[in-house]
Amino acid sequence: MATTKHILLLAGDGIGPEVVGETVKVINWFSQNTATQFTASTALIGGAAYDAKGTPFPDETLEAAKKSDAVLLGAVGGPKWESLPIASRPEKGLLGIRKELGLFANLRPAICFDALADASSLKRDIVAGLDIMIVRELTGGIYFGQPRGVETLPDGTRRGINTEVYTSPEVERIARVAFDLAAKRGGRVCSVDKANVLECTEMWREEVIKVHKASYGKIELSHMYVDNAAMQLVRNPRQFDVLVTTNMFGDILSDIASMLTGSLGMLPSASLGVSGTPGVYEPVHGSAPDIAGKNLANPIATILSFAMMLRYSFNLKNEADLLEATVRKVLEKGLRTGDIMQDGMKKVSTTEMGDAIVSELQKTALQKAV
Ligand code: IPM
Ligand code: MG
Repeated sequence: MATTKHILLLAGDGIGPEVVGETVKVINWFSQNTATQFTASTALIGGAAYDAKGTPFPDETLEAAKKSDAVLLGAVGGPKWESLPIASRPEKGLLGIRKELGLFANLRPAICFDALADASSLKRDIVAGLDIMIVRELTGGIYFGQPRGVETLPDGTRRGINTEVYTSPEVERIARVAFDLAAKRGGRVCSVDKANVLECTEMWREEVIKVHKASYGKIELSHMYVDNAAMQLVRNPRQFDVLVTTNMFGDILSDIASMLTGSLGMLPSASLGVSGTPGVYEPVHGSAPDIAGKNLANPIATILSFAMMLRYSFNLKNEADLLEATVRKVLEKGLRTGDIMQDGMKKVSTTEMGDAIVSELQKTALQKAV
């Protein structure tokens, strides 16, 4: 009997609906042509949810997410909602689903497809062959720490506060994710902190060392201060295998890493919790309001996020490999959305890119059948 997996689609704002729309074509192809059936339903998140329900993260969205096998998310946010109080802003929807589902591990692979090595703002010989994995802690740190807020002092001046806070179990579990991933890849983990200044991250470093000593003797562990790591990522990114870091540092370093791959439009991500929790898969890029609704966005980051879903939530390695190889082929054929456009290549729209990936999947399947 065919296995059925249910995916909750949270398209969100800006280019979210367009890039999720193209990924749905890919999901349908897999549903029709492989042993796993995929069903899908939709719910609201972000600004779209705020407009319809007055909150960026309605209860029914959380309920639908909990009932699903995995969630595919587009993007949230846009200028329309920027003047709302922080608690009502679209970003709260994203932070809400991460927190409520306990998705503490955010995997952000930065892979430079050979066809795109010249599209990076860095030189080809620095980025060609790049394959690194950033593991970002996602439910703790300064994003969620208390106390937080802005207060007005008696003299009328204001004081803003956010708190960087981690407990040792939080560090231990994210370190384990990084070590386990490294064991299946290049066997190296670099933990990024600011242990020279921030006590909280000095503790982070000590806990990572403890986990390493206790269980991961075969993995090579190194440590780097975040300012140096940012510099090393643009100087010599291939020195890294797996990077593990805090919520805030991971947010920043993963945007840097995206440019090594040619475009922010190429970077997928997986947010995972304890086993049995539905993972959330989303492109690292945001809602790109400037190009929303114009059929210009690059759907590849979202399509590759679905490949991560196949790999990490459904354990469908062959299907994930097939989808990644297909994206590679389409890029090798010279098809490019605007963000990765280069001289001599064929510029395509969002929908053309999605269609090209589906027809390449179809071709590969037919060749295999012969
Ligand atoms: C990301 C984004 C989010 C974050 C925003 C939109 C809340 O930048 O996923 O990297 O800061 O985590
Ligand atoms: Mg970010």
